[in-house]
Amino acid sequence: MNILGISGGVMAGNQDGAAAVMMDGKLIAAAEEERFVGVKFANGLLPKNATQFCLKQARLSIHDLDCIVFVGATYTNFEEILRRYFEFHFGYAPPIKLVDHHTAHAASTFYGSGWKRALIVTMDYSGDRKSTTISIGAEGRIETIEQMLKPNSLGIYYSAVTQYLGFQKDSDEYKVMGMAAYGKPIYDLSKILEVTPTGYHFHHEFIRGVASNMPAPSKQERLFDVFPLPFPARLPGSTITQTHFDLAASAQAQLENAVVQMIKHYVQKTGIDRVCLAGGVALNCLMNQKIRESGFVCELYVPPVCSDAGLALGAAYLHAAQSSERPQRLEHAYWGPEFSADEIRFVLARAGVAYREVSDPVAVAVEKILAGKIIAWFQGRTEYGPRALGNRSILANPQIAEMKDTINQKVKFREEFRPLAPAVLHAEGAHYFRGYVDSPYMTQTFVVKALAAQKAPAIVHADGTSRLQSVHASTNPLFHELITQVGRQTGVPMVLNTSLNAYNDPMACEPYQALRTFFTTGLEVLIMGNFVLEKR
Ligand SMILES: [Fe+2]
Repeated sequence: MNILGISGGVMAGNQDGAAAVMMDGKLIAAAEEERFVGVKFANGLLPKNATQFCLKQARLSIHDLDCIVFVGATYTNFEEILRRYFEFHFGYAPPIKLVDHHTAHAASTFYGSGWKRALIVTMDYSGDRKSTTISIGAEGRIETIEQMLKPNSLGIYYSAVTQYLGFQKDSDEYKVMGMAAYGKPIYDLSKILEVTPTGYHFHHEFIRGVASNMPAPSKQERLFDVFPLPFPARLPGSTITQTHFDLAASAQAQLENAVVQMIKHYVQKTGIDRVCLAGGVALNCLMNQKIRESGFVCELYVPPVCSDAGLALGAAYLHAAQSSERPQRLEHAYWGPEFSADEIRFVLARAGVAYREVSDPVAVAVEKILAGKIIAWFQGRTEYGPRALGNRSILANPQIAEMKDTINQKVKFREEFRPLAPAVLHAEGAHYFRGYVDSPYMTQTFVVKALAAQKAPAIVHADGTSRLQSVHASTNPLFHELITQVGRQTGVPMVLNTSLNAYNDPMACEPYQALRTFFTTGLEVLIMGNFVLEKR
């Protein structure tokens, strides 16, 4: 069966449009719409470009699809809207099915894990009126045993704090997470996010909407109006003080307390200690570390795409499972577009830039990294998900202590408190990180050992953690070879790895996007396939 899963949409709050094509339970292609339109999160869009790419990659026409599965079970009249949309843009609309938002999140992580049995926890802002669900995955099926309805939401809680700290909700939550390392959890937020024996209760009465008849939070809210925090909300762009870092640390700690308690309760209740996470809250890699280290969880799976972009995959998985197909485990995250040498050469010629073609791009990359250069590394298929995993990456030498600040200032144009992460050979991870387990998607942090702090200071965050990527030869041989050679020459099998984009842009997907990032930032070398560009 050929299934197209899609997320995104045209309603308020719809973002993270994505498409995924699955054939007989096996994923063929998946990509986020933002990569094609060049606007982060692609708010309010259905994934037209991503769908076109997925069909092309799968060598299918729209007529070959058995079903289109969209996430939005509570949406009114949406099959009809989608039918017209596909008829208009693609000339034909296959049968359309709507599925539940959180069940699709659960499917994205449970079937992706490949586990036979797991406790599945989904947490986000909200979707189909739910904000958290607890399910059991077993024998190929997902059964939800508990759900928390909006606005009892961990996602709304964290978004509200994000707004209070002067950042954009539904976008900048990771800044709060990054700030937490610089603060102390001195504020008691238990009256806002109460930890209960079974998990949490979010006291949303502390959040006021723009008007009494409008949902909270809204852009104009004054969070904690009636809550005695000793300082007002930070205005966007104003100075960030220690008070703000302390509030971020307090909010992060309370989230961790609540989620660890919730998972402890349901692990004990069900007797299942293998846990799959999904939903936007599962992007919180510090929280994921606390879950992993809680002592209640024997194994933790966090997929490469926890956000609503992962719903495209989840929807496809769910329909495949419900159609008695066997959903196949997700083995890697490289499901987006790739470009041939001719296609890259064409773009370079059109741009009229100087370049050279080399036979061994890995050797060039290693030489430049060891010379202290910041390089853009563009190879193979684009990553599905927010993290660059060695195909659309900016790479540098983690042994140079000031490299983090240099990249944040000259290339990413972002705040100095933002950490940068390492890609490390899986076989070597345990030498450098405490409690190391395989973490191929950069979804969890680890406490660094003294050896890593000494040998690779640029990858250590202020709290002594690092959000590493485990690199395997089986899933990315070229990137594995690059890091192997770095390790051979320096004794440290690690590179600093961040996504190939600047500030608010989505990650580069196509060659022209990489060129634009290269020429408008402080990047020094760009290696696309076998082509090398260098600034004087
Ligand atoms: Fe969601």
